[in-house]
Amino acid sequence: MTSRYREVYDGWLKDPEGFWGEASKNIDWIKPADKVFDPDAGIYGRWFVGAQCNTCYNCVDRHAEGGRGDQHALIYDSPITGAQQKFTYSQLLDEVSALAGVIRDLGVEKGDRVIIYMPMIPQAVFAMLACARIGAIHSVVFGGFAPKELATRIEDAKPKAILTASCGIEPGRTVEYKPLLDEAIELSSSKPDACLVFQREQAIASMIDGRDRDWADAVAQAKADGSRAECVPVEATDPLYILYTSGTTGQPKGVVRDNGGHMVALHWTMKNIYDVEPGEVYWAASDVGWVVGHSYIVYAPLLHGNTTIVFEGKPVGTPDAGVFWRVIAEHNVAAMFTAPTAFRAIKQVDPKAELIGQYDLSNFRTLFLAGERADPDTIQWAEDNLKVPVIDHWWQTETGWTIAGNPMGLGALPVKHGSSTVPMPGYEIHILDEANNQVEAGKIGAISVKLPLPPSCLPTLWNADERFRESYLEEYPGYYKTADAGYLDEDGYVYIMARTDDIINVAGHRLSTGGMEEVVAAHPDVAECAVIGIADQLKGQIPAGFMVLNAGVNRDPSEIEKEVVGLVREKIGPVAAFKLVLAVPRLPKTRSGKILRGTMRCIADGEDYRTPATIDDPAILTEITDALKERGIPG
Ligand code: COA
Ligand code: AMP
Repeated sequence: MTSRYREVYDGWLKDPEGFWGEASKNIDWIKPADKVFDPDAGIYGRWFVGAQCNTCYNCVDRHAEGGRGDQHALIYDSPITGAQQKFTYSQLLDEVSALAGVIRDLGVEKGDRVIIYMPMIPQAVFAMLACARIGAIHSVVFGGFAPKELATRIEDAKPKAILTASCGIEPGRTVEYKPLLDEAIELSSSKPDACLVFQREQAIASMIDGRDRDWADAVAQAKADGSRAECVPVEATDPLYILYTSGTTGQPKGVVRDNGGHMVALHWTMKNIYDVEPGEVYWAASDVGWVVGHSYIVYAPLLHGNTTIVFEGKPVGTPDAGVFWRVIAEHNVAAMFTAPTAFRAIKQVDPKAELIGQYDLSNFRTLFLAGERADPDTIQWAEDNLKVPVIDHWWQTETGWTIAGNPMGLGALPVKHGSSTVPMPGYEIHILDEANNQVEAGKIGAISVKLPLPPSCLPTLWNADERFRESYLEEYPGYYKTADAGYLDEDGYVYIMARTDDIINVAGHRLSTGGMEEVVAAHPDVAECAVIGIADQLKGQIPAGFMVLNAGVNRDPSEIEKEVVGLVREKIGPVAAFKLVLAVPRLPKTRSGKILRGTMRCIADGEDYRTPATIDDPAILTEITDALKERGIPG
């Protein structure tokens, strides 16, 4: 089949409002928009201005009422606990409307914020949808973040209530969430009125009188009393959620997602990008704490009437490297979405993919990868062994959906390893140089999206319009700065090569090295430091720290290194995977005092580099090389 991509993309380019107006017909609106796009509203314009809607209604009620009541909406598969549970759309409506009643009765109203700090259990999805139902703005925080990171988010979002579970389960350990939450609330000056705690049998949380409520009891009571909440109409431009993501400092950015544009764009992607029909099973193996989880575990599949899977496990070790194939076969998955790192983990343990043969994958059609660069080796391995198209696609927390991909539902375009294929309708991608000029095909530059951004993209940062402008709009006037560098080839294919800021990507998780530097520098024995991302075979990148100790410190440097590693785990969380820090005599700098992080990264990765002409003392590069060699880097 020849691809309709070009025709569809050109159609959007000619008439963006007509394109999104047509796509919006797949959503049930309470009141239609006055304008599909209003260029004068918001910071760069707003989508579906004047429309009223409810995201939960579109994800749940309309399917429960409209012939999908008995279809599975959600399958919970937890190889880490051995549990499995299935919920039809009718059952999902029952759970969500009762929970929404409970949250409402905690005093949460339209526009109030609710933080959700939960593991991968169905209740996390119920919580997000219940907030959407009553017009509350949820902010999900990933379980691998430490109390201080959670506290920063509580401080910024000022939630009226926090929803949590007693624990998450990681291989070999139970992570008790409740003490972490209690500590975070202690650290924050903003305090929630109430916490709703889902008790899991693996660890029972102790409760604080007057503040904490038992989730299961409260929901059972709401069901018995019939005190369910109905869907509250919200403006299409009202926020659905805030998702904090790493910025260039320790202060995370609160990415705001609205209700209307988000539904329209996400619904469009399910057929056109992922090529699934309503009723089919769609699986994103991620976590609800990340944007992939928000968009493709929760909202998009449910908006489209698919069955989604909540998977509580790891690609390897729960119990083995065949668990992905088991889930695909057992639940009849049509399309799967995960991060390349998951496939690298499987490939490391089962390089010949011997476990695949034990499962019937005949109904599995496509594997989608995103979150980090998909290295050609991993794509090739997956293609050879799964014998289905393996599709890389590029996006960000800020957009909530694909910027560049291969729209399988429009007819696949040829795959080029190393490229995430072509811009999706909505995105006009230009590669710019420092003077804001477009560079020619094949030349690397700043990947930028011509304004306005399409529906679902962030209209601003939570309570921080100025930071939004500064971070994304100021450097290249008229464009959104993606902070990714890369190029377009002569066929218009997009290649993502590197970040232009201090963000690194560890196992598909986005982290700020600047944030880690703030923690390392806070150790009393550290005079100055640098944290960089270095190549890692499994996680893509891992952080490596370099620190210069204060004059007069004569403790064993290895002790200080251990303390610093512990500090980063304590302040940011295990998700940072910060395990390597070296005490060095000096850091390489330019004569104006800028630390040469890029050169250090080349040394650590074993890449060729040119000694910068502006370097203060070239001998320091040899010192860094020797310090790394002592730790077997590059290995
Ligand atoms: N709650 C608490 N701790 C968590 C956690 C959570 N929800 N998730 C991860 N952690 C901890 C892990 O236990 C680990 O701790 P450790 O240092 O004590 O071992 C640390 O955070 C790092 O976790 P992770 O990055 O998951 O590394 P890992 O070595 O446990 O597993 C992979 C590596 C590749 C198997 C895993 O990262 C993975 O499955 N990734 C692919 C899918 C994905 O989630 N992508 C995200 C965006 S699409
Ligand atoms: P996040 O906001 O956590 O989704 O991270 C977004 C960043 O991850 C992007 O800015 C890229 O740097 C990187 N990224 C995401 N998808 C891809 C991809 N397919 N190829 C290369 N990098 C990617």
